[in-house]
Amino acid sequence: MGPSMTPDFSFISPLSIERIAHPDTYSLIPAKDLDIKKQHIQSIVDSCSEPEIYSWLFKEMAPNGYTHEHANGFVNWAKQGWEENRYFVFFILTPSQEICGAIDIKSNQIEKGEVGYWISSHHRGLATNALKNLRKVAKRAGYKLLFAQTKEGNIKSKSVLRKNDFIEDSTYLFDVKCCAKAYKIEL
Ligand SMILES: CC(C)(COP(=O)(O)OP(=O)(O)OC[C@H]1O[C@@H](n2cnc3c(N)ncnc32)[C@H](O)[C@@H]1OP(=O)(O)O)[C@@H](O)C(=O)NCCC(=O)NCCS
Repeated sequence: MGPSMTPDFSFISPLSIERIAHPDTYSLIPAKDLDIKKQHIQSIVDSCSEPEIYSWLFKEMAPNGYTHEHANGFVNWAKQGWEENRYFVFFILTPSQEICGAIDIKSNQIEKGEVGYWISSHHRGLATNALKNLRKVAKRAGYKLLFAQTKEGNIKSKSVLRKNDFIEDSTYLFDVKCCAKAYKIEL
C-alpha cells in the first residue's frame, strides 16, 4: 500500500444524526448529493455571518462580511471535492432540509485527514455527533488518522474534539500562523 492510496467513499449515503437534548433528527449529507436551492445559499450566508462562526472561521478570508458569492463559491468548491475525490464536505441538514452546518475532511491523504466544522448557534449540540459519524465513515473509507487545528481560545471546538477522543499532538500543527493547537485520533 503506497502513499498514492486514496479514500474510497463509494458506500456513502446520507446519515441521520441526533442533536443533544433535542428530539429532532438531522442529517449529514455528502455535498455531492444535495440539490442546492436558493434557500440553502441563504442559510449558509446566515450561519456563516453569525458572530461566532464568522469570527472563528471567515473574518480573515472575508473581512467585509460573508456574502452570497462566498456561499456559492463554497458550494461549488464542496461539490468539486467529491467529483475529483480530493476533499469531502458534508452538509448538516435540519429536519426541514435547511443547511445548518458543515463538516469536512480537507484532503484525500488517508495517512492523515484534517477535519473542520461549523454549526449554526441556533442548532448547537450537533457537532459532537456529526464528528462521531464522520470518524466512522472516514475509517470505512480508509483513513488511518484524523486531525484538527484550532485557534487559541477556541474552547468549544476543543470540547467537540475531546468528546470524540482526540488527543492533543503538536506534530499536526501545520498552520502556525492561524492556529495554536492540534489534535488527532487514530482510526
Ligand atoms: C465549535 C462548534 C462547531 C460546536 O458546535 P455544537 O454543535 O454546539 O457542539 P457540541 O456538539 O459540542 O454541542 C455543544 C452544546 O451541546 C450541549 N452538550 C454537549 N454535550 C452534552 C452532553 N453530553 N449532555 C448535555 N448537553 C451537552 C452543550 O451544552 C453545548 O451547548 P452550549 O454551547 O450552549 O454550551 C460551533 O460552536 C461552531 O460552529 N463554532 C464556530 C466555528 C468553529 O470554531 N469551528 C471549529 C474550527 S476548529
